[in-house]
Amino acid sequence: MLKVGIFGVGHLGKFHLNNWKEIKEAELVGFYDPDDVIAQEVCEKYQLARFLDPAILMDAVDAIDVVAPTHFHFSLCKMALRKGKHVFVEKPLANTMDEARELLKLTKESNIKFQVGHVERFNPAFLSIKDLQINPMFIEVHRLAQFNPRGTEVSVILDLMIHDIDIILSIVKSEVKSIFSNGVAVMTETPDIANVRIEFNNGCVANLTSSRISMKKMRKMRLFQKDAYIGIDFLNKKTEVIKLKTSKDIDVFSFDLETPDGGKKTISVSNPLVPEVNAIKLELQKFCEAVLNNTPTIVSEVDGYRAMDVAHQILQKIKNNSIIA
Ligand SMILES: NC(=O)c1ccc[n+]([C@@H]2O[C@H](COP(=O)([O-])OP(=O)(O)OC[C@H]3O[C@@H](n4cnc5c(N)ncnc54)[C@H](O)[C@@H]3O)[C@@H](O)[C@H]2O)c1
Repeated sequence: MLKVGIFGVGHLGKFHLNNWKEIKEAELVGFYDPDDVIAQEVCEKYQLARFLDPAILMDAVDAIDVVAPTHFHFSLCKMALRKGKHVFVEKPLANTMDEARELLKLTKESNIKFQVGHVERFNPAFLSIKDLQINPMFIEVHRLAQFNPRGTEVSVILDLMIHDIDIILSIVKSEVKSIFSNGVAVMTETPDIANVRIEFNNGCVANLTSSRISMKKMRKMRLFQKDAYIGIDFLNKKTEVIKLKTSKDIDVFSFDLETPDGGKKTISVSNPLVPEVNAIKLELQKFCEAVLNNTPTIVSEVDGYRAMDVAHQILQKIKNNSIIA
């Protein structure tokens, strides 16, 4: 049984609370949140002990779950690492690259499990393509959200685009070669809408658009690779694969295309089976299993660092590109 303490029980923290309660390998010991109103609500609704000192809660648990605003991630994670406690921290890993580097160092020196909350890795639509050969050479991504002041203490890059950056870094097996980006601050002081092109050493190009000032929501990633197109709809939890048909394919439909040499190719269109899973519950469950079974976490501190590193390079480019009239 893993004893867990939650740090931050605001919007997302309450989803975590609900999910932890359903994970039988975990025991929720208590929570820390400096907001008295939120804390009282949680004490009453969840019958969970409130701790007024984060250090005392950490001493009482095996693992911490950090769902506090991003600028508190570093201090809470550092305290936990020094106490030898396992860490699950929401994305982004930390507020600055210096903080992220220090967390990486402290984790390396310790014997703890560290997982970052890049929850899209557990999105059922993404899970549905895990058995496919993924080797994209062109990636097109749209992540659009309606405006919500929550989360706007950081730019749209660290708020939304970082999910796609993490997914892309997990599937493109090559180093980033160059980054081009543009972004505009419309409703807040930091970019609310941005377009980014990431080029990789293997020739893959990813074109990402993120907005938090859209009228409609969209979370789509389209992967193009030799002989296949894979469309992942993270919002509606659907996947579509269009590829050259093989004898093993079970497709929705197929059609023939004439090739320039007068031959014929059969194209198969299919929708891989999307598992019925709750992504937040699954990521917390996998973290729990990694600790209890001493196995690697699925989204490690290194993954969290790499996503942050690319996000910060993007932000720097946007800053360099902004021309004040
Ligand atoms: N993975 C995702 O898709 C996703 C989605 C939303 C938010 N997030 C991340 O989750 C975190 C929290 O976001 P939210 O939307 O729940 O914010 P929120 O403002 O709704 O909640 C944050 C809570 O943390 C509390 N808090 C403040 N300082 C604290 C501290 N020092 N220690 C503990 N708690 C503290 C606040 O009182 C508040 O209750 C952020 O890092 C955000 O980036 C991730």
